[in-house]
Amino acid sequence: MVRSLRQERPDAEAYSISIAQDTNPGSVASKVIQALSLPNGDYSVQRNGIYQDVLGEDHLSPAPPEQQSDFKPIWLVSGGGRGVTADCTAELARRTGGTFILLGRSDVTPWPEWLPLERDLKTLRGLLARNSGQPGMPRKPMEIDKYARRLLASLEISNTIASIEQAGAKARYIQADIGDANQLHTALQDIQNEQGRITGLVHGAGVLADGTAESLRPEDFQRVFGPKVSGLENILASLDVNSLSHIALFSSASAVFGNEGQANYAAANEWLNNVALHLAGELPATQVKAFCWGPWQGGMVDEALARMFAERGIGLIGKADGARIFADQLLQSPHDQIRFVVGDDWGE
Ligand SMILES: NC(=O)c1ccc[n+]([C@@H]2O[C@H](COP(=O)([O-])OP(=O)(O)OC[C@H]3O[C@@H](n4cnc5c(N)ncnc54)[C@H](OP(=O)(O)O)[C@@H]3O)[C@@H](O)[C@H]2O)c1
Repeated sequence: MVRSLRQERPDAEAYSISIAQDTNPGSVASKVIQALSLPNGDYSVQRNGIYQDVLGEDHLSPAPPEQQSDFKPIWLVSGGGRGVTADCTAELARRTGGTFILLGRSDVTPWPEWLPLERDLKTLRGLLARNSGQPGMPRKPMEIDKYARRLLASLEISNTIASIEQAGAKARYIQADIGDANQLHTALQDIQNEQGRITGLVHGAGVLADGTAESLRPEDFQRVFGPKVSGLENILASLDVNSLSHIALFSSASAVFGNEGQANYAAANEWLNNVALHLAGELPATQVKAFCWGPWQGGMVDEALARMFAERGIGLIGKADGARIFADQLLQSPHDQIRFVVGDDWGE
């Protein structure tokens, strides 16, 4: 959050100070005061001194050749039906096969038989408005917009399932809000009774609620932390984490460099980065990776955001490249490389 604040208020003194658990409580206050006399930055107060946090130190490593395996994994993918997580999931299906359980809030509404296939929201709304006399079709503009969005979300989910199946793997979509602990727990119990124990986790669910730090309200933090933070906590509490061979968390480069207007989103993603470090320590046999993605050509990056990044000279990650990097790094990168920045560096 502080990294984003620094971009929004370059003239302000903004520090983040992490305190290591084993620091002597008697010396914390004086070390914090000492850190505040250092140049504006991110510091860790540790037992034996004060260290400046180095950002973005993990770089992608070239992937060694793939090894074939007969093991049929069962992957749980939050947010896997849509957006860039769906692209990564389809690539993962090509590499590992097995079963993919996709979680999302959207329902899957069948495309009406009489309606031509249309992927553009505006054109689809127009088509629906002209056919509002058809049985069961919405009539009011707001309802038409909602229905058009539902149809497009459903189409995206169906296409993801088809891509996974084309790759020779199995796919199941479950409609669930991962922020709702009870709903999620029941859904995961049921699916594991049916399909077997989950062996890999990809946590891609996320939403934006952008605004400058002074305009963000508690509910804007809650919206973003809901799927990212509580969602992951709920998933981990519902699984046998010791059965997970791989854990991939979709974080963001904004967590590493900060980003104007995204203090809440950057903070939630940095939390994921820290959880990845923690999980890697707790589960030494598991490949744990936090992908700090720069902006993609797709998903939550709409035309306006893409233009903003282009103006700042920050390149967009192509879908095929991003999906390939994801699968390479998750399956084959060195075990002790946990946090990756993927994309252009936009730090100072
Ligand atoms: N696109 C980028 O450039 C970029 C850059 C950096 C990081 N990321 C990260 O990558 C991930 C995917 O982003 P995206 O661009 O693909 O976004 P997106 O197109 O908006 O997709 C977000 C996905 O999360 C799901 N989701 C959101 N809230 C959920 C909830 N409470 N329960 C279950 N599922 C939920 C959505 O499904 P429903 O709407 O159906 O629930 C959707 O599948 C996010 O974590 C994002 O922070 C993306």
